[in-house]
Order: sequence, then structure tokens, then C-alpha cells
Amino acid sequence: MIELKTASEVDACAAAGKIVADVLTAVRAHAKPGVTTGELDRLAADLIADAGATPSFLGYHPSWAPTPYPGVICASVNDAIVHGIPGTQRLRPGDLLSVDLAVHLDGWCADAAFSTVIGEGAPEDVALIETAERALAAGIAAAQAGARLGDIAHAIGTVVRGGGYGLLADHGGHGVGRSMHEAPSVSNEGRPGRGLVLRPGLVIALEPMLQAGGADSYRHDPDGWTIRTADGSRAAHAEHTIAITEDGPRVLTAGRPDC
Ligand code: MF3
Ligand code: CO
Repeated sequence: MIELKTASEVDACAAAGKIVADVLTAVRAHAKPGVTTGELDRLAADLIADAGATPSFLGYHPSWAPTPYPGVICASVNDAIVHGIPGTQRLRPGDLLSVDLAVHLDGWCADAAFSTVIGEGAPEDVALIETAERALAAGIAAAQAGARLGDIAHAIGTVVRGGGYGLLADHGGHGVGRSMHEAPSVSNEGRPGRGLVLRPGLVIALEPMLQAGGADSYRHDPDGWTIRTADGSRAAHAEHTIAITEDGPRVLTAGRPDC
């Protein structure tokens, strides 16, 4: 079932989204060479607690995962695309880091992610991240009341494939609200004019996940969570939670870093 949110429920998701954006901004500022992904996780945990919110990933246990998710953020480095578990990995100059975070506040959720380079990045990594952001922006621009899910998917996929990049297979965006993952699923590739009609009150997370090597295939680490490119190439992830409104798309996680 697809639940349309009232205006005050959308505002509640936006309040959660403000915390997500602020915490991701602080994580970005601390993501320097020598810092571990576990330290970034503890920073996020402290800031979320200070804000009176709850981390949505911690303890999340979908049926496909071997264990409940053990972190507050996902920290995915280089060939890790998404769901990297924070830990002892120390960031190095030239690493490509993707950070994903969702929080609940007063029963409502928002979800966002960004990618960045540590120190001076390689031009091809910067181009990959910029394309992820452009694909997300195109998806958001297509998220107009009366348009369809396929229009969003087509907009995202066209930018990614136009850059010659791969799109992580079997993964995409999703509805957000009381839960982090709700109906509908939002594909990163599709046919315009097809699928669910977008109505005001629909809240969805759009999240292109790009692979530099051009392939879509992936593998899991032994931890059962971390998803890596099958070809070892680098990956980038950009995500916002948005609401469909009569006045166009509203970005509920506005202000998160974009590189
Ligand atoms: N934004 C990601 C998603 O929607 C993050 C999920 S991480 C998890 O799938 F740990 F919660 F699974
Ligand atoms: Co998400």
C-alpha cells in the first residue's frame, strides 16, 4: 500500500531530514586522512542523540541480511558502493567515501547519502560523483505531480548511462515515512510515462548508485552487508528524500553535502 502523507507529516519528515543533513555535514567535515570510518560513525551517533533523534540503520534487519545492521551510518570506501559497515578502516588521501544516513524523529524518517573524495581526488572520481549528483537532480526535477515513477527512473538512468557508468543492479530508491523503506520501489532506470502516477503527499528517497567501470554487477563482502563493484572499479552514491507537492518536488534532506 502506498501511503500519501499529510502536509504536517511531510513537515515531520523534513524535520528528520534537517537532522540528517546537519549530521552528514559534520561527518563530511571530519572525513580527513587518518580518520577511521568507525570514528565518523561515533560522531554521527553523538550528534543524532543530541538532536533527540534515533538512527534508523542501527539494528535494521531485512530478511536478506545475515545480521542486524551494526552501524549508525553506512561508510562505503572506493569499490564499496553501499552498505559499508563503519569500523577500523582508516581514510587515506585519494579515497572515495560514500556516507548514507537515515534518522527517525518523532516517528518520522528521512534518508540521504553523498559521496566525496578524501584530500585531493582523482579527476575521474570527481566526475563520477558529479554525475551521481546530476542524475539525482534530474530525478528530482522529474518528480512533478501528475508525472510517473517511470519519468523519474528514466531521468536518472539517462544521465548515468550517458556518462558511460554502470548502475548497481537490484537496488534503487524507495518510499519513506514512518518506516525507512516503504512502497513504492523507485528504480534508477525505466521507461517514461510508465508506472505509478506521482501525487502530492508521496514521500520517496531517490538514490542513484553508480559504478565507474560501466557494469551493473556486484558482490557482497563476507560481512553480508558491504556491496562492492564486481570489477573493482570505484562507486558513488547520491540520495535525497523528497516529497511530491502541488508546487513541485520538495527536498526534505536539503543541505546535506554534495561532494
Ligand atoms: N539508503 C540505503 C537504503 O535505502 C541505506 C540502507 S542501510 C541499512 O537502502 F543498513 F539500513 F540497510
Ligand atoms: Co535509501
